[in-house]
Amino acid sequence: GIMRKPIIIANWKMNFLRDQANLYVKKLIKKLGNKENIEVGIASQDLFLTDLIKLTENTPISIVAQNAYWENFGPFTGETSPKALANVGVDYVMLGHFERRELFNETNSTVNLKVRTALNNGMDVIVDVEELEQVAPVLEGVSEEQMQQIIIGFEPTFAIGTGMSASTKGAEDVAEQIRKTVRKLYGSDVADSTRILYGGSVNRDNLKSLIKQKDIDGVLVGKAALDFQSFWELVEII
Ligand code: G3P
Repeated sequence: GIMRKPIIIANWKMNFLRDQANLYVKKLIKKLGNKENIEVGIASQDLFLTDLIKLTENTPISIVAQNAYWENFGPFTGETSPKALANVGVDYVMLGHFERRELFNETNSTVNLKVRTALNNGMDVIVDVEELEQVAPVLEGVSEEQMQQIIIGFEPTFAIGTGMSASTKGAEDVAEQIRKTVRKLYGSDVADSTRILYGGSVNRDNLKSLIKQKDIDGVLVGKAALDFQSFWELVEII
């Protein structure tokens, strides 16, 4: 069988202050020990990333940025350089989240530019889509080799922050379609090794069945990850 390591990511969005962020991750390190059968990611706002990277050295925890620009340097006041993120040791950058598209006018083409620049800096990318149709456009120009650095997150709009998750079957159906699309674009080996995540009102009850689906390799968690204990209960289910 194909081994795709399950991954659970806490998307903190724009929450917490420094001490809370550090305390949360310290608790996570303690509980997680050196569990190696799953990957746990923390997607934090930029300001806390370097603290978290230091804390999680030699642990199985991955640190994720929530956005980055598509240029490495230049007159782009207020933007974050993907090269600088890579330089300080960020493991992944999340790109194309629905809130970026909805509130900050990101489009498939800007997300695609960001994906390519991040990959060129050697970063791993979690590229988010809300629907199947976005998969091919955000991956344009990404090589077969670079696909090793890509995780695809599927977050249906209606499910984000609403408490109303997609049905297990609905989520699996789209994940399966996404894998088919990747197969068409990159062939079977890449499709079989690409991890596809579901996001949108994941909680204790729906996670158990979501994670058993053959094309769902993990989850992105918003609200239920804002409290450490609540997130930890989800980690234990994975
Ligand atoms: O990236 C995950 C996030 O958008 C899902 O949020 O609150 O529906 O779990 P939530």
